[in-house]
Amino acid sequence: MYKLAIAGTGYVGLVAGATFAEVGHHVTCVDVDEDKVEMMRAGISPIYEEGLESLMQRNVELGRLSYSTDFKAAYQDADAIFIGVGTPERADGSADLTHIASVARQIAESIEKDCLVIVKSTVPVGTNDKVEQFIRDFLVNDVHFEVASNPEFLAQGSAVHDTMYADRFIIGTESEWARNLLTDIYTSFHRPIVNVSRRSAEMIKYASNDFLALKISYINDIANLCELVGADIQDVAEGMSYDARIGDKFLNAGIGYGGSCFPKDTKALMSLARENGYELRTVQSAVEVNEQQKTKLFKEANKRLITFNGLKVAVLGLTFKPGTDDLREAASLVNVPLLLEQGADIYAFDPSGAVRFSTMYPEGRFGIGAITYASNVEQALLDAHVCFIFTEWDEVKLTTPERYAELMRTPLVYDGRNIYSVLEMEKAGVEYHSVGRFS
Ligand code: UGA
Repeated sequence: MYKLAIAGTGYVGLVAGATFAEVGHHVTCVDVDEDKVEMMRAGISPIYEEGLESLMQRNVELGRLSYSTDFKAAYQDADAIFIGVGTPERADGSADLTHIASVARQIAESIEKDCLVIVKSTVPVGTNDKVEQFIRDFLVNDVHFEVASNPEFLAQGSAVHDTMYADRFIIGTESEWARNLLTDIYTSFHRPIVNVSRRSAEMIKYASNDFLALKISYINDIANLCELVGADIQDVAEGMSYDARIGDKFLNAGIGYGGSCFPKDTKALMSLARENGYELRTVQSAVEVNEQQKTKLFKEANKRLITFNGLKVAVLGLTFKPGTDDLREAASLVNVPLLLEQGADIYAFDPSGAVRFSTMYPEGRFGIGAITYASNVEQALLDAHVCFIFTEWDEVKLTTPERYAELMRTPLVYDGRNIYSVLEMEKAGVEYHSVGRFS
């Protein structure tokens, strides 16, 4: 078992740290944020992720996991250091590598024994070469180090499971020493390991995320056409899914993808392509379809109702997907301002509490519109003229069609996640609009 250090305690770093400890390694998670480190030391996970907090607590008790702001102490005698800090999007769509650079510099100034540095953050192809050069430029002690690429494929809401039972671990290295060490670190997970070059590993991450974004935009494009020709996208997707070459995942039509990954990684890959004199037209189309998809139901409802002024509008779900409190690139962030602009009286419900949303839009008036936070689905629906579903939380799914009919003033529902059967909504007397289905 190895002594590992992890730089950054966001989704990537913290989940990696806790799961490495779980399979027996000795891990120190490093973060510059003292409050965050104190919080983790008190046994609290700074992110909402099923199973993470108990995994953290168990491994701290077993003495295999610790948290620190002291990067020097953590890095100096580590066998391997994983970099899991953020790579946010710059205004031009490229990835901002400032955090990676500052960690690389700390590593260069701290390591006192031979060590493998592994980049887990999503970085443009070629970044690992730069990180290696950067560390070499600032290296203080005479030690051997190498840089490896090991992209992360976990999804928010199922991060621990996605790591413990990963479909594969991608290991991108340039030497046998690095390949053997990193393979050894991952052996205890007993999952498939794919060994490739560093640049291929970096590309696999973007190519995978962008392919999934393409898949979603493709099914949304077909869904929009289904509406026009009288076909049902769920039947179409099911029929397609039996072809093993297509598969049954990521074929749910709706109001598009959000989150911190697909929107950022599609733009980053297009930006990389442009820098190299190439246009990634497939990815460009996926991004365009997604932008349109986000406001599709708002536009339909706007046509049907003419104006939202003075209407009570129930909004169910604010986060970009269920099981997380993350709002990044969520459809709600585009639709709520549009509704407020037209004077809607919004009653929003999200089981995560969506604290950040209520900070951006505190309860009260916004121009001619207003927003109130409901503590459950029924409170949001009561006396509403229209309802929008943006996230398929269980609390929403468990609400029966009859409850919409009973509670709403006019049972008119725009479902961006295709939760309900069109027939059952009709039977309950609800005017129901969803995506890619006949209604
Ligand atoms: C995504 C990938 O799924 C992970 O493999 C990857 O590691 C991660 O990005 C990352 O790069 O860090 P995540 O963004 O957490 O994970 O969430 P997903 O479950 O992929 O969902 C993304 C968005 O696509 C959500 O808004 C979801 O509602 C939407 N989606 C997903 C659809 O609209 N239809 C589908 O069929 C599937």
